[in-house]
Amino acid sequence: MTKKVAVLPGDGVGKEVTKGAIDVLNAIGQRFNHQFEFSYGLIGGAAIDTEGVPLPESTVAVCKEADAVLLGAVGGPKWDAVPTQLRPERGLLAIRKELDLYANLRPVTYYDSLADSSPLKKEYIQDVDFIIVRELTGGLYFGKPSERRTNGSEEVVVDTLYYKREEIERIIRQAFETAKVRRQKVTSVDKANVLESSRLWREIAEEVSKDYPEIELEHMLVDSAAMQLIRNPKHFDVVVTENMFGDILSDEASMLAGSLGMLPSASLTLNGPSLYEPVHGSAPDIAGQNKANPIAAILSAAMMLRHSFGLEEEAKAVEQAVEHVLNAGHRTADLANGSHYLSTEKMVEAIVDTIADDSAIVN
Ligand code: NAD
Ligand code: IPM
Ligand code: MN
Repeated sequence: MTKKVAVLPGDGVGKEVTKGAIDVLNAIGQRFNHQFEFSYGLIGGAAIDTEGVPLPESTVAVCKEADAVLLGAVGGPKWDAVPTQLRPERGLLAIRKELDLYANLRPVTYYDSLADSSPLKKEYIQDVDFIIVRELTGGLYFGKPSERRTNGSEEVVVDTLYYKREEIERIIRQAFETAKVRRQKVTSVDKANVLESSRLWREIAEEVSKDYPEIELEHMLVDSAAMQLIRNPKHFDVVVTENMFGDILSDEASMLAGSLGMLPSASLTLNGPSLYEPVHGSAPDIAGQNKANPIAAILSAAMMLRHSFGLEEEAKAVEQAVEHVLNAGHRTADLANGSHYLSTEKMVEAIVDTIADDSAIVN
């Protein structure tokens, strides 16, 4: 099959890890006889530097012509002083809104060979396997007003947590659909003891759950959920939550897998191309050093194969190659606990070689 992939590398390590994901897609193309055609667009700081805005029209056009979008990461200290509306992160929020990427799936997977990379004890994290379903185009990130103003002599600031009923309903439905093919359990995370938006969220979760009698629904307050993720992460199967809660909990959850550099994501829409990106950012502290872990980006490409192209076997081949390489003891710096580690490029090479040599993977 032939598929068009729009690539938005962005900034910092975003550029380094998307290169790795492209190499992996090409290796899959070779082995399974598919053609991936790549087109490129600027986003974030890279777009600000050349076009003056974080999301040029031309980038939106490149995305809309594609079957799926692969994104690296945006942001960095260079653009910290630009006005809020022009920050690199605004480019990312704008493309999410523009493509209506409301459902952000962030799976958290335990790899046995990485038990020592996590700061948490093995007995707690062993066999952890859950997925955060993060609402991505509403909530605190997009509500209006969001501004600074003066009230007489007082400086005030406001951000708004705004949702329409349908926006909550569709993400909760996505969570139940996800749970159907997993362990039949949804944990809806909110702050219903304080926020009106969370009270409606809970009501809707209860309503939707009536359509899924076989699936267990529980509600959990977000502060408690942050604690339970460390105390008993095996408790979770599908976690569904508001945009900002999901952002925070997923970075926390990455440490169960060993590193933020291990967590992929899929940002799904009902119409048009979906987008795939690692959970991590541009990592300015290691950018340009060929040191970033490319696995989050590579596993995001696997999610693209699965969710956008229906290529389950190919997605599994990528995931198995990653596991194989980790089992063989290969590590990037973030996973290595100070001992010998591979560069970004060498890690990509190891994964690509494993995909090319299908006998390397023992099921
Ligand atoms: P970050 O995720 O970039 O980095 C946090 C820490 O994790 C750093 O120590 C970094 O070195 C490490 N890390 C991240 N990715 C890694 C990888 N692939 N391999 C090894 N180590 C990795 O978060 P931050 O430092 O708070 O933010 C930096 C910039 O990135 C900010 O401008 C922020 O807005 C942006 N950001 C962008 C995205 C995105 O584009 N999706 C996500 C998060 C943060
Ligand atoms: C993420 C990032 C983004 C978010 C930022 C860069 C806007 O942290 O994708 O997790 O908060 O959604
Ligand atoms: Mn984040």
